[in-house]
Amino acid sequence: NTAKLSSARFTEATDAFVEEFTASIQFDNRMYRQDIQGSIAHAKMLTEAGILTQDELADIINGLTQIQQEIDNGKFQWSIQQEDIHMNIEARLTNLIGITGKKLHTGRSRNDQVATDIRLYLRDEIDAILPELKRLQQGILSLAEKEADTIMPGFTHLQTAQPVTFGHHMMAWFEMIKRDVERLQDCRKRVNTMPLGSAALAGTTYPINRELTAELLGFDRISENSLDGVSDRDFAIEFTAFASTFLMHLSRFSEELVLWSSAQFQFIDLPDRFCTGSSIMPQKKNPDVPELVRGKTGRVYGHLISLLTLMKSQPLAYNKDNQEDKEPLFDTVDTVRGSLRAFADMVPAIIVNRDMTYAAAKNGFSTATDLADYLVKKGLPFRDAHEVVGLAVAHGVKNKLDLSEMSLETLQGFHADITEDVFEVLTLEGSVSARDHLGGTAPRQVKAAIQRAKIFLNKA
Ligand code: ARG
Repeated sequence: NTAKLSSARFTEATDAFVEEFTASIQFDNRMYRQDIQGSIAHAKMLTEAGILTQDELADIINGLTQIQQEIDNGKFQWSIQQEDIHMNIEARLTNLIGITGKKLHTGRSRNDQVATDIRLYLRDEIDAILPELKRLQQGILSLAEKEADTIMPGFTHLQTAQPVTFGHHMMAWFEMIKRDVERLQDCRKRVNTMPLGSAALAGTTYPINRELTAELLGFDRISENSLDGVSDRDFAIEFTAFASTFLMHLSRFSEELVLWSSAQFQFIDLPDRFCTGSSIMPQKKNPDVPELVRGKTGRVYGHLISLLTLMKSQPLAYNKDNQEDKEPLFDTVDTVRGSLRAFADMVPAIIVNRDMTYAAAKNGFSTATDLADYLVKKGLPFRDAHEVVGLAVAHGVKNKLDLSEMSLETLQGFHADITEDVFEVLTLEGSVSARDHLGGTAPRQVKAAIQRAKIFLNKA
């Protein structure tokens, strides 16, 4: 096998199975654009350093440009013998432009090349994900704005706790996604560090200019240690950690959408285009999109553990183990992008059944805390007020009466200080609008939070 890499020191061809087993071309061809981009920058730098001539550079750029078109158009012949994306492209380049193609790898190793490619790839993906996160945030805001006054039960332990507004509930999701955006922006800083120039592990004897390649490739930083440069995969772990947290959020969101769209809750309708039917039960409309996103969270967690475990015992510097970084990372990217797109499309289209959420908030004594607070304002210690209201609730449970449905006389039976004005605090509207401070559920506060969020998004 004359095409074999480093063949001169071998006395037998690679076992056919081993060749396939050790190859990565089946999946790393997804980085072909970044590999070509990196090679063009490297060749320009070599020319600047006097290692390649202008003519050689022109040939390399022409050849790589043609290869990119061949791959774009599905005409490129991938070869398992060429192991990975780097060797496939280099072999084709030499085939196209002759001996000059063999000079491209001067002062470079696949170890710094692959580390550079993954970073360029992930940076491109992050730059596509960030605007989609913003689109999701805008979708959440538009739903929050429509439902800023809509009353629903707030839950703790999934038991009715206190009334909240639907807009307030949506703004909780906005806050979570906002932190995810911050995490991703922070991760991007470390992704955007250039390992190229580390060569195999120790650097190179050529007079390379790393500042120039970094500038050509848009890197903000250059790795400062060649051993670390070729072996660091922290950035991929960080991205996957971001993705795990983000999917954990979407999974919680999904869980609520699934519950809320059930016949038992009926808080929302998901538009039909995000649902599917059952092959046997004619009445079914299943919330497939949130269910699937909830399910996909598991695979992303798995990828995080894969990458952490991949790195945990690796001695410096590059080890072939690192080839295993790509599939978990790529699948994490695909899962984030798919789930994000589905949610950004779906969330602003959610229809809220205001009558149902209101009726549900009326059940379960959601204004009991308001009655206790009322008694505290009349001078009772909170613990005593808690006790009084507990007795009133027990009466309500027994007689199937909400607190607001009891007569003044009945309520006064629990405490003499209760007067006519109690009914204002026992209404759902009174309860939510009384929580009127930064972070509270009062519609006034929710609307202010939405305004702040809009300004924030316009600046971002
Ligand atoms: N396909 C390899 C990877 O994904 C590229 C680097 C190979 N380097 C080496 N010395 N075998 O990591």
